[in-house]
Amino acid sequence: MSGADSSENSDQSSSSIPVLSDVSRQRIDARPQRMNTWFNLIPVKKFEDTQPAKLLFLDSFVTVQSTEAKDGSGEKSYSVFFEGQHEMSVVVKYSLIFVWYGDDLLTPDRPFPVIFEKPFTSKYVSSKVSQFDKTHIMDFVENGSDNLHFEKVHLWNSSKLYDHVISEETITLKQDAAINYGASTTDLKGRIISKFVPLLNLHHDFVYHGPGLATVSAEGIGNLEFHSLVSLTPEGDHGTRLYVTIAVDPETFPKWAERIFSWVSPKTALCDVLAAILANFVQNEFHADSVIWANKRFQDLKLLPVEKHLADVRRWGETFYPKDFVPPVVEEKSPDLRQWEYLDDAANIKEGIVYPYSVSNEALVAIKNAHGEIRVFDAYCPHQGAHLGCGGEITEDRIQCPFHGFYFDGEGRCLGPSETNRTNFISELDMTGIKYRIEDGRVEVFI
Ligand code: FES
Ligand SMILES: [Fe+2]
Repeated sequence: MSGADSSENSDQSSSSIPVLSDVSRQRIDARPQRMNTWFNLIPVKKFEDTQPAKLLFLDSFVTVQSTEAKDGSGEKSYSVFFEGQHEMSVVVKYSLIFVWYGDDLLTPDRPFPVIFEKPFTSKYVSSKVSQFDKTHIMDFVENGSDNLHFEKVHLWNSSKLYDHVISEETITLKQDAAINYGASTTDLKGRIISKFVPLLNLHHDFVYHGPGLATVSAEGIGNLEFHSLVSLTPEGDHGTRLYVTIAVDPETFPKWAERIFSWVSPKTALCDVLAAILANFVQNEFHADSVIWANKRFQDLKLLPVEKHLADVRRWGETFYPKDFVPPVVEEKSPDLRQWEYLDDAANIKEGIVYPYSVSNEALVAIKNAHGEIRVFDAYCPHQGAHLGCGGEITEDRIQCPFHGFYFDGEGRCLGPSETNRTNFISELDMTGIKYRIEDGRVEVFI
């Protein structure tokens, strides 16, 4: 990086710390969400309760019609029309309405996947909807395979992923983890409740059945067996709505508990209440991720050797893109168009904070290092593209990335996850310095 200090004088104009709403948060993401696969549209109960005229789906909408069976059984069937006109293939299972999206809406390229070999007899209970405006469905898929983020983002005590098996239809992986459920939720109530939840040593099995459906099963919550389905439905170009649907096998918890509960609440089964609690737990885990995803740049993964499977996961996602999809060419800004632009008053940039900016559509961060010198960098972490100004912290003159916790020194040199292990590989992850100057107390960047 280069910088030319002219006169860092004491121009003490308003010292405002830029907040996220001040910086451009336009997500840069060229990946299509129109992927050829099965998606959950809505839980049956939610549809029946709300009877929406239209449902957002991809960058468009669908309409849903329900028809009651003529035999008086009260059974209903559902027809779904893309953009209100084009009939789609529909499957109703696990209390959810699924549709096929593909080149031919009525003839799926692949049958609805076998998700659970044998459904439970108990109810499949869905969480409330979670809406993530700036999250591509592949963010979720990649996240499941991203071992290093669980401790930093979710505040789990430990995580170990293994047995990554990627086939044409599925990704299967296993995880051992010590989990502090809800500790990272952005919701204060959730965080308080999490304090009363004991640390759980769990084993998870994850299976992605295409980009829109994942199952998660866990061992370690007593003898409890449950079916857990995370469904991801694209909204717009890069938004996702998420439901967690869970059924608890009533055979796997003590009968006395069910009996006591039925005295207290005769109309509700204990397994359904438990399913709702578990669904909320799982759902809450995604909120801390979403803060990272909404601001990250998805291109240019620079992965550690132990993370190579993440590139395979991304390639697997691409196999679901429409056949005619051509990735847009990312154009480099011509050097002739670069010029000096105002960033901020130098007096506004104080030690201990990573300041986010957007200048000429470039996302930047600025810090004041331990020697009192200002440094300006590209905002995106060279590792997996998290925005360092959105949750990045300064500890003892080191910037720590909010995603996997890698450290960078005051000159932007990557120190890796442990601060001590600057290998050749790690040095490829140095932050990109931006040329700047300080004139009359104004910081300007050449951009
Ligand atoms: S994105 Fe991984 S450490 Fe920054
Ligand atoms: Fe996550």
